Formats: sequence, structure tokens, C-alpha cells
Amino acid sequence: MKNRIIIANWKMKPNLAETLSLAEAYKQQFAQFQKSDVVICPNLISLKEVKGIIAGSIIRLGAQTVFWEERGAYTGEVSPGMLLEAGCEYVIIGHSERRKYLRETYDQIHLKVKAVLAVKGLVPIICIGEEGKDRKTDKRDFILVDQVQQALSGINISKDQQVIIAYEPIWAIGSGVAIEPEEANYAHKIVKLTLSELFGEEITANNFRIIYGGSISSKIVDGFAELEHIDGLLVGGASLDTEEFYRVAQSMLHNKG
Ligand code: PGA
Repeated sequence: MKNRIIIANWKMKPNLAETLSLAEAYKQQFAQFQKSDVVICPNLISLKEVKGIIAGSIIRLGAQTVFWEERGAYTGEVSPGMLLEAGCEYVIIGHSERRKYLRETYDQIHLKVKAVLAVKGLVPIICIGEEGKDRKTDKRDFILVDQVQQALSGINISKDQQVIIAYEPIWAIGSGVAIEPEEANYAHKIVKLTLSELFGEEITANNFRIIYGGSISSKIVDGFAELEHIDGLLVGGASLDTEEFYRVAQSMLHNKG
């Protein structure tokens, strides 16, 4: 059975000094932790230094974005190979904040997923999710199916590759209002069915993890930890408080789904 995973997305919230302090605090907090799948995603320019801080701990490193080419005249961008060199094992792709503020498109997300999977040792975390106006409408399922298909159709997933799909309803991100756990469970089932059609049941079961993100906190995490179709969480705001994030991780990784 695959392990559940918990991912901290620090966004552009802590500055450089705060990022390093947070990494130190995480290292201390998780020193005795029994499970291993804990990932932190700091800003790009802190990656190497953070890697040094968390060395020797169970904490893994992830980036918040990536470009789809390995080298070239792409001012300001960072390639999958560079992230690997910096010590990353994970990278978030297509977060709704990037789709909103940088106009990132599903064509670009597709290219990024492909480029990341071409680099051995880097796992893409692909974000999908509907807007508030589409919640509780017939359109919602279609939107999720379409987003998964656009990101992944035509890409081959081999037995040694891992992919994470993060279902993050846009209206729930940073709003303080999470989805009802059962609603997430249902959405994850839709994603699973779509993946099964694309890659078959075996690859879907063994190589994909479907996680939830959006206003997760220790107050509500237990309801999510109990769900059948959930392989982990992507946590924003609550991940900036080390003890709060630890409580979320305890519940999610130690409770059985
Ligand atoms: P949030 O962010 O937990 O603050 O809602 C989640 C995310 O954007 O990944």
C-alpha cells in the first residue's frame, strides 16, 4: 500500500530569513516522527540552503514551480534538472495562484508535467480544482476530468514513476473554509476513475496519489484522515505554524484511511 504524504506549501509568505528559521523548526519538530512522507516547498532561492538544514532528517524538499525546458534562453525560469541539483524530490505544478496571477495554462502545465517526468527522481504534484461558481453543479465533475486529461493525456507513466494529483477547490484555498470531507472523497473518486481510463487501474493504484488541499487545519483534519480515497494533504496557511502543521501531519499520516 502506498504511503500517505503531507506537503507544506510555504508560498511567498515567509521571507528568506524566516524560511530558514521555519526549516530549522520543522527539523526539530519532526526529529522523532515515525513516518517519512513529509515535504516542504519553500521559495526557489532558498532551496539549496533549506536542503542543507533538513539534511539527515525525514523531511523532503519540493519546489513551488518549474519550467518545461531543461536549458535555454528562458529568462527567470528554473528547469527540472536544476531543481534536482538543488535537492528537490517534488515540485508543485499548476497551482491555482499561478494560473490566476501568471496566466499559467493547461498546455503549459502539460509540458511541465512531461518535462518533470523526464527527469528521474522528481515527482510532479499537479494541482486541479474548480472555482466556487462551479461547486455543487453538474459542471464540477466535468471540470476535474478535463483538468486531469489536459495535464496527463498522451504522457506515458512507467512503473517506477510517481505522480501526485492535488485536488484543491479554488474557493477553499486560503479562505478558512474547507470542503466537506465527503465532497473531497467524491472528487477524488472522479479523479481516480479518470486516471484509470488513461493509465489503467494498476498504474492508478500504485503510481498515483490523490491528495486534498484548501484551508486544512488541525481542527478539521480528522474528518479527512478517515476518508477512503485520500492519499495525503497539501497545506498552505497552517504549514507556517510548525506545531499546527505537526498536528495535521500526525492525524493524517498516523490515522488509517
Ligand atoms: P491553504 O493553501 O491551506 O492556505 O488554503 C493551500 C494551497 O494553496 O496549497
